[in-house]
Amino acid sequence: MSQTRQLSEADRTADPAQEAARRRTFAVISHPDAGKSTLTEALALHARVISEAGAVHGKAGRRGVVSDWLSMERTRGISITSAALQFEYHDHVINLLDTPGHADFSEDTYRVLSAVDCAVMLLDSAKGLEPQTVKLFDVCRHRGIPVITFVNKWDRPGREALELCDELRDRIGLRPMPLTWPVGIAGDFRGVLDRRDGEFVGFERTSGGATVAPEHHMSADEAAERVGDEWQRATEESELLTESGDDMDVAAFARAEASPVLFGSAVQNFGVRHLLDVLLEHAPAPSARPDEHGNPRRIDEPFSAFVFKVQTGMDPAHRDRVAFARVCSGEFERGLVATHAGTQRSFSTKYAQQMFGQQRDTVERAYPGDVIGLVNASALGVGDTLYTGKPAVRFPGMPQFTPEHFAVARTTDPGRSKQFRRGLEQLVQEGVIQLLHSETRGEGAPVLAAVGPMQFDVVTQRMESEFRSPLKLEQLPYTVVRRVGDPGQRAMLHTHSSEVLDRADGTTLAVFTDEISMRSLQRLKPELDLRHVVADTE
Ligand code: G4P
Repeated sequence: MSQTRQLSEADRTADPAQEAARRRTFAVISHPDAGKSTLTEALALHARVISEAGAVHGKAGRRGVVSDWLSMERTRGISITSAALQFEYHDHVINLLDTPGHADFSEDTYRVLSAVDCAVMLLDSAKGLEPQTVKLFDVCRHRGIPVITFVNKWDRPGREALELCDELRDRIGLRPMPLTWPVGIAGDFRGVLDRRDGEFVGFERTSGGATVAPEHHMSADEAAERVGDEWQRATEESELLTESGDDMDVAAFARAEASPVLFGSAVQNFGVRHLLDVLLEHAPAPSARPDEHGNPRRIDEPFSAFVFKVQTGMDPAHRDRVAFARVCSGEFERGLVATHAGTQRSFSTKYAQQMFGQQRDTVERAYPGDVIGLVNASALGVGDTLYTGKPAVRFPGMPQFTPEHFAVARTTDPGRSKQFRRGLEQLVQEGVIQLLHSETRGEGAPVLAAVGPMQFDVVTQRMESEFRSPLKLEQLPYTVVRRVGDPGQRAMLHTHSSEVLDRADGTTLAVFTDEISMRSLQRLKPELDLRHVVADTE
């Protein structure tokens, strides 16, 4: 049975601008355990994609469909892979892109965020802003992505709503604009005051949140009478918010300066409808995307898309490789032959799919904002552009992050050195790992580099199981990394506590065992041009 809902023929028009206008493409960002999987289920449930919560993700029975593509994920219980979920809601098409749930995978998350028009920042009401939330929010700010904040788990004891709003303002400089306001404290949740119409929406526990929660609406007068003190307090707080200028300002939201805030409980499906409504009402639809020269590619121009993620091993039965691409302009029709901007070669899109958990459906058409999974796309790498027609277009490549962890790789089977090289090259193309070369270590001992150390486990496992080329990794003791501004200075950078490593894109890195070694070298040789760069565009 197909779990995604295909758009019916009747829904389809050939007008990409109209189709784009009814699309909302977003991702949920959160610290692990804030309830991202639960919210994903609840959103899909609301849109009635699935009849019962638990079919998308679900722990111990509730979890398991999306996140068991790789055996490593199963054993570690984390989600490494990403999926895109599409569903219809009130004549709109919602594309929800899944971001990896582990703190290690910030590069992957960054790539997913390059493909969305909006993000939902999910907070645990008891914890507020957590390290990963802050990091992810920084990415959104950097890319100018508008953020909606959903304060989750209000059904259990947590912090004060006003205090959480202050935290948004003070710690990340995002002006909160609560659209709903909780009635009753976290843990004794009575419902929300809908600040848009002044009504009370009553909260009722459902058994396990398995069905869409019934909503009880009451006028303000009725709520004052029936809810009493809690209602009184909520209305007073809401008036305070209005006085301090925290009402909805759509332009400030679009500029990513202010965030609509909603309160709810994903596990109880409460507040989820509000979230969908805010997405429809205020979140930006796909619009023109700047190409590598900064010229906007209008959505009504011929088909174009860029690859934001490459994934292998999603189907244990077949060794496959799927390139996930976001459509930026025009209409995608399965089978169309596009041009690969990097190589100028033709690329056939016969095998295009939508992914939802392990379920796949062939995608026949797609429009700006949609995600297509191109199967067996060995020619496609992260950041690549596909397009049809003239003129040629190329979107900016994905930023390369400066790695923070390093290990030397050696094959344990010298008879398979060709597979060793090929395997590593493929993993680099997929964006799993960075490959660095050291003049002193030679070709047979490349240095692998990553932002998060878990990438090394992925490499070890995939080299063995997929490329049948087992390798040994020796972690290097470097903790401080600098970009070398003048590669002519490389000779000065070889010391007992540092070395120089080169990346294929021409970047030269100097790596040091610790901050003190770097500082003392710089004191000795002040002419050294060392730069601290977190990420740049390839
Ligand atoms: P993640 O994807 O962000 O890592 O979080 P996930 O949805 O797996 O949720 C983490 C835990 O928080 C789960 O509990 C989940 O049930 C719980 N949770 C999510 N939303 C809410 C909410 O609105 N209210 C409450 N009270 N809990 C919520 P768990 O004990 O780890 O798993 P489970 O056995 O309960 O599923």
